[in-house]
Formats: sequence, C-alpha cells, structure tokens
Amino acid sequence: MSTPQQNTIRHYLQFTDLSADEYAHLFARAAEIKRKFKAYEKYHPLADRTLAMIFEKASTRTRVSFEAGMYQLGGSVVHLTTGDSQLGRSEPIEDSARVISRMTDIVMIRTYGQDKIVRFASHSRVPVINGLTNEFHPCQILADIFTYIEHRGSIQGKTVAWVGDGNNMANTWLQAAELLGFTVHLSTPSGYEVDQAVAGLRSAESYKIFKDPEDACRGADLVTTDVWTSMGFEAENEARKKAFADWCVDVAMMQVAKPDALFMHCLPAHRGEEVSAEVIDGPQSVVWDEAENRMHVQKALMEFLLLGKVA
Ligand code: CP
Ligand code: NVA
Repeated sequence: MSTPQQNTIRHYLQFTDLSADEYAHLFARAAEIKRKFKAYEKYHPLADRTLAMIFEKASTRTRVSFEAGMYQLGGSVVHLTTGDSQLGRSEPIEDSARVISRMTDIVMIRTYGQDKIVRFASHSRVPVINGLTNEFHPCQILADIFTYIEHRGSIQGKTVAWVGDGNNMANTWLQAAELLGFTVHLSTPSGYEVDQAVAGLRSAESYKIFKDPEDACRGADLVTTDVWTSMGFEAENEARKKAFADWCVDVAMMQVAKPDALFMHCLPAHRGEEVSAEVIDGPQSVVWDEAENRMHVQKALMEFLLLGKVA
C-alpha cells in the first residue's frame, strides 16, 4: 500500500510538527473516533494498512494504545524491539528505515536520542511517529490536552504546573504551550532544569520558572508531573531520589491550585515519590482517562497522517 511520495509525507516527530488548526481538527476527530469506539461502531479507514512499531525502550501504554488502535482502524501491526531485530546488531538506522518503510504504511518509534528518529524519518517513505525519545513525548501531550479539553474545555489561556524533571514531557509541554496559547509554570530541582534550546521556543513568554514547586502550582488549572528517573537515566537513580525529594505533588500543592484543577501523570507512577497516593488516587486525578485517551488521539493522528483531513 505504500507509495513513495517523499514530498507529501507528514511525520510527527515533535509537537511543533502540526499547526494549531491541525490540532483543532485532531481533537475533534479524536472525540468522534472515541464516540465510535464506545458505541461499538465499526470504523476501518486503515484496512490493509500496516503499522510498524519499533521499541528500543520498555512500554505498556504506547504499545497497547497503538496496537489496539491500529487493529480497531482495520489495519495490522508489526512489533519490533532492539533485542529481536537487526536494530540491536548495528544495522544502520538509515537502512532499517528504507527497508521497513517499503513494507509498511506508517512507523512508530520509541528510542533514545531525537537524532535517531530524525535520521529514520529522513530515509522513510512513510510517516514516522515519535512514541517517546529522550527529548520529546508528543503523543502523550496530545492525549493530555485532549483529556483537559474533555474535562474542562479549551486549554487556551490556562496554566499548567509542571513539577519535577526537565525531561521529554516538560519539553513537549513547553512546545504545546507556545503553539496552543497557554502558560507552563515550571519547577524543577537544581541541576534538572529544562534545556530551553531543546524545545526550540520562539520566545520565553509561554512559561515561568519557580524555585518552589508549591509556587508553581499556585492558581494552576492543571498540575502534572512525571517519574524522577526517566528511561535511559537509571544510573542517576540514587542521586535523583535525593535531589527530587521536595518535588512530590501532594495535597498541599493541589490545595494552592485552582479549586477545579486537574491532576495528570503520563504513567507509570511511583506513589510516594513524584506524587502522593492521595493525589493520584484522589478526586482531581484524571490519569486513567489520560491513559485511555492515548489510543483515541493516536487513532486520529494515524488517520490524519495517512488520509489527511477526514471530514
Ligand atoms: N506514558 C507512556 O508512554 O507509557 P508507556 O511507557 O507505558 O508506554
Ligand atoms: N519521562 C518518562 C516518561 C515515560 C512514559 C521516560 O522517558 O521514561
């Protein structure tokens, strides 16, 4: 089914790869696709299409959401890992891209450096989706914003508090804030700040930095955090446990946020580390909707990348 139309391929390697208008379309499509799923309505626009999923890091949500989502759209899936493919035996990424993209219609990759996914995409005949790199996690922020909209309406003009590591999730929130018009309050421990060059922002207007995580949460519409140690940084685990001890989203932090503030976490979570059990299992937490929505937004994303703007 693949056609070598290099010029028209759209990839989703970072949040800035789509425009604000395209996000509005995707959120509307995700809502409709979710409605069909809940109503057991068959919807097979990707019949006979194949998604290749390449994992160089572990996953639960990303694998299940892409795999189940592609089957629900009528397509099929090939699952590859570093350990069971030639990717782990130093076949050049460019050669892997050329071969995999001749046999499949769309590719999702979870890997380490963003440079790897960029190299893969530049040699791929088909759309490539970032399923998490050290720098970005755009599919997760897509799901998070869709979840916010479902619960509270437009995120434009709202404030998102980021408490924790200046990691792939934080970078992607910053990109989303600049593109969609909201503000991020960032609080990271010293030494774990966001590298503002990675997000590639046009200005510093869409975020504010706070030393104290409670100050970052004050007045926020959404409080969110992530693991203290991301995949690939396990050697720093003990040092991070000490540095991040005060960056645990607890009831006190939620109390200074807006009374109707939501709590999100991309998961997996460590209760007692980056979030208290009372918060993640409490009434303001929408983490299970957030996880489920990965599937609905990614179905809309695959539909868009393969079929364009479906009415
Ligand atoms: N949130 C997320 O990407 O989860 P997995 O690592 O389980 O895929
Ligand atoms: N920042 C985390 C997200 C996991 C979904 C990581 O990269 O491991």
